[in-house]
Amino acid sequence: MNNWVIGNILDIKKYPNNLFKIFIKASIDKFISGQFTKISIKIKKKYIYRAYSFVNNSQNLILEFYILFIPNGKFSYKLFNSKINKKIKISKKSFGFFILDEIPKCKTLWMICTNTGIGPYLSILSENKNLERFKNLVLIYVNKFLTNCNYNCEIKNLRNNYYGKLHILNIISREKIYSTLNGRINKFIINGFLEKIIGLNLNYKNSHIMICGNPNMIKNTQNILIKFRNMKKHLRFKKGNITIEKYW
Ligand SMILES: Cc1cc2nc3c(=O)[nH]c(=O)nc-3n(C[C@H](O)[C@H](O)[C@H](O)COP(=O)(O)OP(=O)(O)OC[C@H]3O[C@@H](n4cnc5c(N)ncnc54)[C@H](O)[C@@H]3O)c2cc1C
Ligand SMILES: NC(=O)c1ccc[n+]([C@@H]2O[C@H](COP(=O)([O-])OP(=O)(O)OC[C@H]3O[C@@H](n4cnc5c(N)ncnc54)[C@H](OP(=O)(O)O)[C@@H]3O)[C@@H](O)[C@H]2O)c1
Repeated sequence: MNNWVIGNILDIKKYPNNLFKIFIKASIDKFISGQFTKISIKIKKKYIYRAYSFVNNSQNLILEFYILFIPNGKFSYKLFNSKINKKIKISKKSFGFFILDEIPKCKTLWMICTNTGIGPYLSILSENKNLERFKNLVLIYVNKFLTNCNYNCEIKNLRNNYYGKLHILNIISREKIYSTLNGRINKFIINGFLEKIIGLNLNYKNSHIMICGNPNMIKNTQNILIKFRNMKKHLRFKKGNITIEKYW
């Protein structure tokens, strides 16, 4: 059963391509960076809820979420059109195992995501706890368009804070943009170009891969890592290399 608390919407920032950031104040229990919560609002006289990953880390008092407004969706349009100071319900407890405690020690931790799937990594990286176990960190941000990249400042700050340990790469699939890789991630893993451009090896002996966001991208990437890099899905009772968080 869910225990809800009342949250107050402090701000909503809107971006191109239906993306928005929402900032909420609510007295929820302490969560672990990488986890998600449930937000609930009344729609047509009935409360419904959806899951959203925290962008802020567990030290911040203001909760931040990065969301895609789906025009035909049942919930996100309502959040997108909410007014400042609107009260929403938010789960007191948080959920999920897409957290560092679940990731085995290895040389290189690869964090791959699409669009709104950047949230858990911003939470984990900004907290910078429990990351000394990894020699290298790699963040690969996959988007259709460059205008979807709405955390450039935060990502740049993180890069500076990690003094060379954190490698960052943008992949843009539907535009040709200088200084990013253009196309889908699939081919860059298969042909080894991803490793070449980052300068690190991606293999089952030295790497763990977290993948978050679009389930089709996750499925394809996972299959490629299994087929071409001899990797296995990581399970709590059976060590592997791949940990995923699907958004739908
Ligand atoms: C663990 C977890 C964490 C999540 N975290 C986030 C988050 O941080 N930000 C976020 O925007 N969504 C997140 N989601 C998705 C979110 O819960 C809702 O499904 C989403 O906001 C759409 O709700 P809706 O009712 O408007 O549309 P729905 O009727 O629920 O969905 C319609 C369709 O929209 C597409 N869709 C859903 N979510 C996304 C998305 N994020 N990006 C692209 N396409 C999508 C799918 O094709 C889906 O079938 C998360 C989901 C899970 C399970
Ligand atoms: N109707 C609307 O106006 C509207 C607007 C936005 C979003 N949406 C909904 O949101 C979803 C799109 O979300 P999004 O904008 O975050 O983009 P997305 O479809 O989740 O794609 C994000 C990135 O993942 C890549 N990708 C997708 N499938 C892949 C696969 N099988 N293998 C490898 N890479 C893959 C995409 O490449 P490609 O570019 O090559 O696909 C893109 O670079 C759609 O399912 C739609 O339901 C609707």
